[in-house]
Amino acid sequence: MGDVKIAPSILSADFANFGAEIRAIEDQGADWVHVDVMDGHFVPNLTFGPPAVKAFRPHVKTVMDVHLMISPVDTYIDAYAEAGADVLTAHLEAGPHPHRTLQAIRGAGMKAGIALNPGTPAESVEHLLDMADLVCVMTVNPGFGGQTFLDMTAKVAKLREMIGDREVLIEIDGGVDPRTAPLVVGAGADVLVAGSAVFKGGSVDTPEVYGENMRAIRASYA
Ligand code: DX5
Ligand code: ZN
Repeated sequence: MGDVKIAPSILSADFANFGAEIRAIEDQGADWVHVDVMDGHFVPNLTFGPPAVKAFRPHVKTVMDVHLMISPVDTYIDAYAEAGADVLTAHLEAGPHPHRTLQAIRGAGMKAGIALNPGTPAESVEHLLDMADLVCVMTVNPGFGGQTFLDMTAKVAKLREMIGDREVLIEIDGGVDPRTAPLVVGAGADVLVAGSAVFKGGSVDTPEVYGENMRAIRASYA
């Protein structure tokens, strides 16, 4: 459990100040930076697209983890490679050809992730595990930060068992805080995305609050 990664979601950052926010969370100990791309179609919210993500890139010293909540996906894969994504995650529910999507992501030189909405069972990615580097288990319905955690502990445990000794990371996204993190870490999570629980109470002028918030999450499952 010692190497569980924390990936703050900049969906909860100050949208007028992304560069400084990214530097602040990394200075305070973030392992990855999670970037939520929403299209107003696959999910009922809009964030930003490839030019903004490209502008974030020089500020990210760790891993830029881009979560696409868009449909269609395949037409944008090259744009996110060009924008500098390290990990690119698409939703299983976003289109009819997830194999093609994962192949295209790896083919463009990125790590390939596949995300599952809360209503989608673990078994639905069994046939994709040899083509994926990460499975993202959504613990809220995607679209907004600050929603209530949905308990997907059994799904995480099932995935851990299905993954076996493959090098596939399990990422948890939505409602992760010091109360919920131990549940998913205990079931086998490798990466915890957290938006509101990391950014709450802090700002680029008080970045130590981000550090305290991340330490509280880590301490909850230590
Ligand atoms: C939800 C996004 C999440 C979100 C998490 O659609 O994919 O990454 O930012 O926010 P919290 O941690 O506040 O639930
Ligand atoms: Zn996300």
